Amino acid sequence: MSIAGKRVLLIISGGIAAYKALELIRLLRKAGCAVSCVLTAGGAHFVTPLSLQALSEEKVYTELFSLTDESEMGHIQLSRSADLVVVAPASADLLAKMAAGMADDLASTLLLATDTRVLVAPAMNVRMWLHPATQANMMLLGQRGVAVVGPDEGAMACNEFGPGRLAEPPAILAAIEVLLAEPIRLPAPGLRTLEAPRRLAGRHVLVTSGPTHEPIDPVRYIANRSSGRQGHAIAAALAGLGARVTLVSGPVVVADPAGVDVVRVETAAEMLAACQAALPADAAVFAAAVADWRVAHAAGQKLKKGPDGAAPGLALVPNPDILATIAAAGPGRPRLVVGFAAETHEMLVHAQDKRARKNADWIVANDVNPASGIMGGTENEVHLVTTEGIEDWPRMDKQAVAVRLAERIAEALA
Ligand code: C5P
Repeated sequence: MSIAGKRVLLIISGGIAAYKALELIRLLRKAGCAVSCVLTAGGAHFVTPLSLQALSEEKVYTELFSLTDESEMGHIQLSRSADLVVVAPASADLLAKMAAGMADDLASTLLLATDTRVLVAPAMNVRMWLHPATQANMMLLGQRGVAVVGPDEGAMACNEFGPGRLAEPPAILAAIEVLLAEPIRLPAPGLRTLEAPRRLAGRHVLVTSGPTHEPIDPVRYIANRSSGRQGHAIAAALAGLGARVTLVSGPVVVADPAGVDVVRVETAAEMLAACQAALPADAAVFAAAVADWRVAHAAGQKLKKGPDGAAPGLALVPNPDILATIAAAGPGRPRLVVGFAAETHEMLVHAQDKRARKNADWIVANDVNPASGIMGGTENEVHLVTTEGIEDWPRMDKQAVAVRLAERIAEALA
């Protein structure tokens, strides 16, 4: 529906996401909607009144006790002249003030004085969002008819991961369009969450992560070095885009990602069985560092050192290749199969060869030479090998790699 001719009162509170308010104003103006901006003292640390004024082409309000503003338009009138009040980003502090009914600055005073519907787009650190105080405030605001869009889940400026990112400006615009299309003016009680459909909603994605442990005896095992950080971050990023995710994980110490079905396994054989049981899936990402071999006959009891100190001979047999098994052509094959190639030399040659040999659609290749510091570290530098060629991604946080890969998967499945 058209929002041309409508007026939004946009309140911008503090937080690094405040810069996205500029894009929101641009989208609203493009749609023919008038925007009056109110900037809190916190918000003014991140965007300037001048940039808001340039984009909105209107006066920007910052002061509660401004004689000029009061003579031109009193704050009560300002709060009621809009068709919708939008708070984006809505900081934890401003949401708390709204819930408590405080009115100690222009933004909170307008929010208390308005008789217009209110949409909030929260943005804050993940712990602050998940804190019971913030959640209780959101419940209270919802009961009073305040609508909410986001927050999104993903990598955050504070280097943490989870819900707390400001919804993207097009999603906020979509929520504004929904609310402005409704005839009601007075708030209807009940928490309203307005979200654009998430890109992987309705999709099932299988992800493997971590090492496998292949027992030698009850106390010893063969394993690869793997923290599970990259695989777990991919599972979280896919869930953040709305996918149903089954994460088959070997033994790791990283926490289970929220909103993901986790199946814990020890050995490659168990990992393969868990992957097969999780099918059908639309896509599968094999990020696990699976041990290539297992001991042919693991001892039932702890192997003892021989009297002469001789080491026991271990006969090894190859493990099943989980990626190659699931990627083999057949009716149950996921539409998109993504493998990893961790190499210490000639990375791209090996990765291209691996893609073809294992029948994967994509290979995410990375250099695990100890000098790279990638194995077990928090950063990764990857190359995406597809049928079309090789994309070199810059070195970035493993969570950022995960988000980018999840977005590429969403594009491929669209
Ligand atoms: O052959 P290589 O171990 O280098 O292949 C790496 C890719 O294959 C990764 O995606 C890994 O998860 C997958 N793989 C597997 N099962 C194995 C060995 C590797 O799924 N037994």
